[in-house]
Amino acid sequence: MAPFKRTQCLFVFISLITLLSCKKDKNLVVVEQNDKIKLGKRIFFDKGLSNPIGQSCSSCHSPETGFSDLNHNIISEGAVDGLYGNRNAPNVSYAMFSMPLHFDYEDSTYVGGFFHDGRVNSLQEQATKPLFNPLEMNIESVSMLISKVRSADYFSLYKEVYGEITDEDKALKNIADAIAAYEQSSEVNPFTSKFDYYLKGQASLTAQELRGMKIFTDTLKGKCANCHIIEPDEETGKVLFTDFTYDNIGLPKNTNNPYYTMAPNYNPMGASYIDYGLGAFLNNSSFNGQFKVPSLRNVAISAPYFHNGVFNTLEETVRFYNSRDSLFPNPEVPANVNREELGKLKLSAQEEKDLVAFLKTLTDGYK
Ligand code: HEC
Ligand code: HEC
Repeated sequence: MAPFKRTQCLFVFISLITLLSCKKDKNLVVVEQNDKIKLGKRIFFDKGLSNPIGQSCSSCHSPETGFSDLNHNIISEGAVDGLYGNRNAPNVSYAMFSMPLHFDYEDSTYVGGFFHDGRVNSLQEQATKPLFNPLEMNIESVSMLISKVRSADYFSLYKEVYGEITDEDKALKNIADAIAAYEQSSEVNPFTSKFDYYLKGQASLTAQELRGMKIFTDTLKGKCANCHIIEPDEETGKVLFTDFTYDNIGLPKNTNNPYYTMAPNYNPMGASYIDYGLGAFLNNSSFNGQFKVPSLRNVAISAPYFHNGVFNTLEETVRFYNSRDSLFPNPEVPANVNREELGKLKLSAQEEKDLVAFLKTLTDGYK
């Protein structure tokens, strides 16, 4: 029996070594990921990157407002004074859960993508856009970006994570990769709202908040959860308050949008510019006026609302859903307006208030 015992012994020894080395590898991966997140965060908050300096991603996506514009601007001003893009800065918190843009034949709608119109397919691809957009951070070239990163005090951390820079395009990919890692971290997606604690049985909602949740979910009342899904997502098990589909909800034009006053090289249409959203990106008028359904997490702290920032308060927003067809100006894009699920909900003033109370339970950092 002796030889058998020896092999047994050897087997246990090998298993132990494998187990230990696996554990070590796993720890190493976690450490590398943490460094990547740390680096991504430094880049996200680096106001030295823009041209001229003074603007970072966080200038338009601040943690205090669900990673949207801290100053609640309709349109956030670019790094160059007086330049404005065409849309409201959305919350970056929970944006990560979107998937690449694709057509869902079952529901016959587009789903996924990033930006209000889904025109890019990943956070990595997205991150490179504002850096070089003349109406945003206005960096002139990849070389200019790389030289700024080289002289940043986090460059040693960059080298620890990605090594020396030998190829600028590869370095750009790495920078985008680090930013995306931060955007996917628990710091940006904490799930710490009153609603989350309520789901875990660690907080209770008030009678009004519960009424609001019921109206939100009721397919004959608010119908909000038809698009802002309140069931846990199949893949992640998380409640995301969006299905990442697209709709034209019939918003009026926001005449206060500073983009209308931009010079013709930025906005050739001037005040008559119409934002066709998904339809413009696809160059297919069947989708004109459609924009991505956003998550409603942190919505109470991220006014103004919608792709054009047309409403300043949740009260106004809920009133719009309830009474669009009687109280509000005509839609900017009359084609494809959703008339089944919103526009004349016949909610009472009290029910509107209850809905707003529920939306206020979705703010992270509840104590
Ligand atoms: C000047 C303001 C501004 C700056 C600076 C800025 N953004 Fe944005 N961001 C926006 C606007 C506006 C949009 C929506 C644009 C659109 O839909 O066409 C947006 C959209 C996004 C989205 C898509 C969210 C979603 O739900 O689809 C992400 C992610 C994002 N930005 C990350 C970043 C990162 C990373 C940086 C820095 C590299 C950055 N932003 C810099 C204004 C800004
Ligand atoms: C048919 C789908 C649909 C339904 C139903 C729906 N929404 Fe929306 N919601 C959207 C879309 C699409 C947007 C983005 C539209 C845009 O920006 O043009 C949006 C945006 C919002 C926003 C703005 C978020 C932000 O960050 O700017 C709020 C608030 C909101 N919805 C609340 C509600 C409430 C409350 C209800 C129920 C009364 C509701 N929604 C019902 C599709 C829907």
